[in-house]
Formats: sequence, structure tokens, C-alpha cells
Amino acid sequence: MQESTLFDAEDGNGQVDNSGLGEIDVGAARIDASEKSMINARSDVNQLLPLKYGWAWEKYLSGCNNHWMPTEVSMQGDIATWRAPVNSPEGLTEDEVRMLKRNLGFFATAESLVANNIVLAVYRHLTNPECRQYLLRQAFEEAIHTHTFQYICTSLGLDEGELFNMYREVPSITDKDAWALKHTQNLEDPDFRTGSPERDQAFLRDMVAFYVIFEGMWFYTGFAQILALGRRNKMVGIAEQYQYILRDESIHMNFGIDCINQIKIENPHLWTEDFQEEIRGMLREACELEVAYGKETMPRGILGLNAELCEQYMHFITNRRAEQIGLARLFPEVDNPFPWMSEVIDLPKEKNFFETRVTEYQTGGALSWD
Ligand SMILES: [Fe+2]
Ligand SMILES: [Fe+2]
Repeated sequence: MQESTLFDAEDGNGQVDNSGLGEIDVGAARIDASEKSMINARSDVNQLLPLKYGWAWEKYLSGCNNHWMPTEVSMQGDIATWRAPVNSPEGLTEDEVRMLKRNLGFFATAESLVANNIVLAVYRHLTNPECRQYLLRQAFEEAIHTHTFQYICTSLGLDEGELFNMYREVPSITDKDAWALKHTQNLEDPDFRTGSPERDQAFLRDMVAFYVIFEGMWFYTGFAQILALGRRNKMVGIAEQYQYILRDESIHMNFGIDCINQIKIENPHLWTEDFQEEIRGMLREACELEVAYGKETMPRGILGLNAELCEQYMHFITNRRAEQIGLARLFPEVDNPFPWMSEVIDLPKEKNFFETRVTEYQTGGALSWD
């Protein structure tokens, strides 16, 4: 049987062209699913079938089943609450306004950072076709999430300059974004290719930074803040949109965790003791950055939340994320101070938590031709 074409497209610097842009290898042997791999494969880049990673395809299907658009959520109640005088019974308190604005400010640009990382870094190096199929779906979902913040901004008449510049004007948001961005920047060199242990570890670092930390830790204080408002019947339109974003993000995070674990299985030499300690250090640092964000968005307790409970929540989340990628816990075991968050996360897809949305996609969107 003819040799497969893995690792055969060196560019002269000893690097493999695994981007999917290598020459077509006419006459090469047909690809068997067992030959597919997560990274450093070339010959299977265009072949979705035969499937090897069913979990990636399942996540693509789940993403499609969860399709939603922010404009389907009515903002009338939110607009009335937002326009009511601050500290009046119909309106928000001063603390709630600060929290809401900073929360929206973080997410408004965070979604684009994640999208940039998928398109400019992850997609180039995660060359498996079923994973790429999911990445294309995820990239569209990130566009929908950015659209959500445009829609909220316009509906409430927020100062768009203030909202979309918060990533460089509120220090705890700048710190988080700059920390994550440096991982995308590490892979930015157009000549960067995976294929050596150092470069494969750089790619894994980026996967951890975005899937485990950005989407898996840093979104969660923000989700808790807005869902706490919704639970008190305030800004229920935004709360419902966040519920849909949370549902999407939990699939994004689980996809990233599955990818990391699969890369570890296929490349155990990358997961050294030193590298594991380095990743644990990243999680610890990320947890500190999130605690700082909690303090800056909620200098005083509101809605049953405060900076201390958010710190406990982040310890709980950080421990879970460490365990999900096979690392030891970082903090002594703590209870989840917001058990209602798991109720929202585990909500059946069909159920509409805040019940303001009129359209459901779960039945599928069959076209009628007659
Ligand atoms: Fe997102
Ligand atoms: Fe995401």
C-alpha cells in the first residue's frame, strides 16, 4: 500500500505545510479514518468523511440546532427599565448600571477577540476536517454574539464609543484582553507551523487561553451578573440573550476541551510535568484577573452577588476546568455559591427560560416548495 502523505510537505525550513493549502497529491492512497489526526496531518485536510472524531461532528450539529438571532428577543421591557430614573423602583440602581455597562463593554469586544483567534490562529493549525467544520459554525456564532451587543447598544441608545472602547479604558478588561491576545500573537507569524514539540505546545497554550480560560472562565462572572438581574425581573431581554450565548459558549468550551484532550492522547510527549505546571500557572493567573474584574464591576454587593462570592465562584470554576483537562485542582474544594447558574446551564434546549422569545428553531427550518 502506498505511504500516506503525512508530513511530506516541508517548506525548506523543516516545517510542515498543514494549513490545507499544500499541493494536491494526485494518486495518493485513500485516507482511512485511523490516519486522521488533530494536528500535523496534511493529507486529510479536505476530507470530512470518513469521520474520525464523532464528538466534533456532534457539536457542529448541536450548534446548528441551537441557532438563534438576537433580534428575535424583545427589548421593550429592557428599554423601559433603562429609561426609568436611576434608583427609582422601575429602574436600575447606580451599582447595577455600572455593572451592566462594564459587563456589556467586556463582552462587546471579547467576542471579536475570540473570533479573531479562531480565524487567524486555530483554524490554520487545527487541520482535521470535522474540527474545521465545527470551527466554521463557531465563527458564525461569535458573529451572532457580537451582533447581540450591537443590538443591545442600539436598542438602549447606549454610548457606542464608551461600550466599544471599554477594553482599553477599564483596566481589568484591558488586562484580560491583553493577556489572551498575546497567545494569538504568538501564532501570528505567517511562517509559524506546528510540528515541533515547542510549536505544538505554543498551539496548545493558545487553545487553553481561549477555550478553557476566555470562554470557560472569563465569561462566567459576566453570565452570573446578567442572569442575576434577569432572576429579579430586570433587563430580561438581555438576560435571555445571555442565556442563549451561555448555551453556545458551553459547547465552544467543551469542543476546546475535547480538542485539547485528544491532542494530548495523540501527542503524550507534549504533556510534560513542566508544561502541566505552566498550564496550571496560566489558570491561576487567569483566575486572579477575573477576580479583579469582579471587583471593578461590583465594588459593592448587588443582586446577591459580591466580589467575594465571585472569587469563590471563580475558584470553583477554575478547579473544574483544571480537572476537565486532566490537571490537579488549584484551590481547596469550595461549594458553588451560585447553584442557580448550573440550573440555567443545564436547561433543556427547548425551554425558554425568560420566555420573551417568539421563535424556536428546535423543530428545524424545513423549506416548503409547494
Ligand atoms: Fe461568543
Ligand atoms: Fe465562544
